Amino acid sequence: MASTRVPNPFHFGAPAEDVHFTDRLDQLARLKAVMLNGQNLILIAPRRYGKTSLLLAAEREVRKAGGRTGRVSLIKCASEKDVAEALMKGVIDGPLGWLRGRVEELILRISRLRIRPTATFSDSGTLESLSFGRDIAGVNWREVIVDVIRILNDAAQHERTEPVSLILDEFQKAYEISPLLADVFKDLVDEMPRVSLVFAGSKRHLMEAMVSDPERGALYNVGSKMYLGKIALEDFVAYLERQAAVGGKAMAGGVAARIYQAAAGIPNDVQLLAFWSFESAPGSSIDDAAVEHAVRAAVGDQREEFEEVFGKLSLTQQRLLKHIAANHTTAVTGSVVQAAIGVSHTSARAAAEVLERAQLIQSQDSAWIVSSGLLREWLSDAYD
Ligand SMILES: Nc1ncnc2c1ncn2[C@@H]1O[C@H](COP(=O)(O)OP(=O)(O)OP(=O)(O)O)[C@@H](O)[C@H]1O
Ligand SMILES: [Mg+2]
Repeated sequence: MASTRVPNPFHFGAPAEDVHFTDRLDQLARLKAVMLNGQNLILIAPRRYGKTSLLLAAEREVRKAGGRTGRVSLIKCASEKDVAEALMKGVIDGPLGWLRGRVEELILRISRLRIRPTATFSDSGTLESLSFGRDIAGVNWREVIVDVIRILNDAAQHERTEPVSLILDEFQKAYEISPLLADVFKDLVDEMPRVSLVFAGSKRHLMEAMVSDPERGALYNVGSKMYLGKIALEDFVAYLERQAAVGGKAMAGGVAARIYQAAAGIPNDVQLLAFWSFESAPGSSIDDAAVEHAVRAAVGDQREEFEEVFGKLSLTQQRLLKHIAANHTTAVTGSVVQAAIGVSHTSARAAAEVLERAQLIQSQDSAWIVSSGLLREWLSDAYD
């Protein structure tokens, strides 16, 4: 007889695909409207909130509606040349994807660049590799990037009427490599009213520096801003209970909410805990004991990372973090906090700023919380 094992119905780590993609319908509709109409948008969210999942869903929707689009991630770029290559690949695979198989025409287009890339294509015309060669001294890669993005503009203007867009995921990397590189995009945006660019990033202070500084912000006024928050408790609970049932197990009352709380609502961690709760439930019901087990396993898995993050903080910062983990904290500089961590108002504020910038703490519902529920668990006495 064939095995009756039902696969685990939860999913974490890689971007969420259709069945796992829950909520976010408003955001999806907004992205789609922007991308089909030559507008620009800046998407900001902490890590693991589901940016890429949302962007991939937007990419699918835009294609379905006849738009030409693609997504580039700058996460592995470490130089301006890397960015130029990543963009070139993204443009060929994405907005110019309809030229697949028409290699001659593609080559003609990319030959207009001031530095010509070498590209190899498979028999079916799919791009296999692309490189601008060795980093030649004296090349201004920012100009090459301008050329690459202008290919989008040509595509939008001349032959076709389909809307053209490109998603730049982990865009804060451009700014980290060079603020000048980020500036390039501001000029490009002004020059290309019919092309839609979506800039997404996770390091909030860098994204904010680009978006909100009227003097030096590369993305100041280039488009609308979207801050991606947590998925609401009710929506996530509905998803968790539905998926558990798909996997042939029931979630006991309150268990889904317990998972959500333990993960502090971070989408990736909610899914991770649901996954391990499902695995550790021996029978057909997922109960509190299974969640408890999953939390321990997940915290255990991330222990080294937590030790490292914690170890890099000053003692004052460590004390403040532990205090927030264990107490309802409405003001980080209040007298209770100062007394508990034994420092002045100014030092408490400075410590809070470091923790917030590192996205270790955040304010939510007028209190300060440890951003990661799993880190909060690790900080508690239960893990000594
Ligand atoms: N809309 C969603 N519904 C359900 N789960 C989601 C959703 N979006 C994200 N998740 C969960 O979060 C995980 C991470 O999603 P994703 O990779 O899209 O986040 P990200 O913000 O791009 O993360 P990173 O900062 O690491 O790039 C997914 O594997 C999934 O478990
Ligand atoms: Mg991502």
